[in-house]
Amino acid sequence: MLSMTCRSLDFGTRVLDLVAASIERHSVKNVGKTFTSKVYGARRMVCSRLNIRRTRVFPTNTSKALLDGVGEQTTPVLDLKKEAKSPVSLANLFEVVADDLQTLNQNLQSIVGAENPVLMSAAEQIFGAGGKRMRPALVFLVSRATAELAGLKDLTTKHRRLAEIIEMIHTASLIHDDVLDESDMRRGKETVHQLYGTRVAVLAGDFMFAQSSWYLANLENLEVIKLISQVIKDFASGEIKQASSLFDCDVELEEYLLKSYYKTASLIAASTKGAAIFSGADRSITEQMYEFGKNLGLSFQVVDDILDFTQSAEQLGKPAGSDLAKGNLTAPVIFALEKEPKLREIIESEFCETGSLDEAIKLVNQCGGIERAQELAKEKADLAIKNLQCLPQSNFRLALEDMVKFNLERID
Ligand code: IPE
Ligand code: IPE
Ligand code: MG
Ligand code: MG
Repeated sequence: MLSMTCRSLDFGTRVLDLVAASIERHSVKNVGKTFTSKVYGARRMVCSRLNIRRTRVFPTNTSKALLDGVGEQTTPVLDLKKEAKSPVSLANLFEVVADDLQTLNQNLQSIVGAENPVLMSAAEQIFGAGGKRMRPALVFLVSRATAELAGLKDLTTKHRRLAEIIEMIHTASLIHDDVLDESDMRRGKETVHQLYGTRVAVLAGDFMFAQSSWYLANLENLEVIKLISQVIKDFASGEIKQASSLFDCDVELEEYLLKSYYKTASLIAASTKGAAIFSGADRSITEQMYEFGKNLGLSFQVVDDILDFTQSAEQLGKPAGSDLAKGNLTAPVIFALEKEPKLREIIESEFCETGSLDEAIKLVNQCGGIERAQELAKEKADLAIKNLQCLPQSNFRLALEDMVKFNLERID
């Protein structure tokens, strides 16, 4: 099952190859530049701390599957004008799984970090801060939508444990991501490393990854174990990929999508597929649920990257405007770079001149970077809605469709 998934994405066993510069199957392009002390200096800091050489590696067999739908003239299933009239609220769309989410929150508190007071405090800090609980909600919605199909009356304990494992992995990845991004705010509160220091944050993240692996093994389903353990590896690959391409203006859309798949979409895809597997759904359905999660996850990351440009820290509950400042070139910048050569100059100077970051942000806006990124998010959302067409009509399928729309409405 896993190998099928990887084959269809066309990068299966090359995951690590992408971050290792020495594999001869790939052409290697060195874009190293002189490391100078600059205002943000993020590339210097992250790369030198991780001892990552600024070397970009291109797979010779490109992951075309991730570009599915990009710029294609297919008939969209999402009527955005019509949808805009009925905005979706998160509370409404999670209503059908509200009880499931409540039980999840209680269980999460009791299973994380109970053995160590420091880790327990760190875990409480981030779990207690809230979060949308989007991934467990997806697990519950897909579980219920596919359980009906397979004649199951209620969720099983395996479905519920899967949702807890997924949120644990997500939370661990946020703790580590905040260390790497040097972010001081998450879910409207101070980050774990800000409060307890980097060492505790790294250990707390590691502990949660390990804890989730233990619970995963106890599910005793080899297909799901393989699926989810690949996700943990993908997350690290995505972060390494990002850290090794900071301020790199040659980064292409395909590479950005691949990184986004590793960092974000892989976990969401595994959540939705894992849920369908535990319902005993047919392979054709589990594969469609994987594609649904992948496309929603890509759309979600593109939206998150747009919001980094368009919203305030108060609205986001985390730092705003920091991706570009730290050299993380996301979809809006990649599109803007195609139109505006001056942007490259400013980015490559790592914003050494006062006001140059603001000028770069202005250029991204002026040359349509945000609009094109919005189009990309919509294209992926449209694919996600199509992936749901294999499910019978139900309130759960409707809520899944609404989730895709809710994500897009964040950038309206
Ligand atoms: C944040 O995910 C990380 C990304 C993948 C962009 P969420 O926006 O789902 O974070 P929480 O769980 O609601 O805080
Ligand atoms: C997603 O990327 C991070 C994870 C999947 C952990 P970002 O770096 O954009 O996430 P935020 O913006 O910090 O939430
Ligand atoms: Mg981050
Ligand atoms: Mg972000």
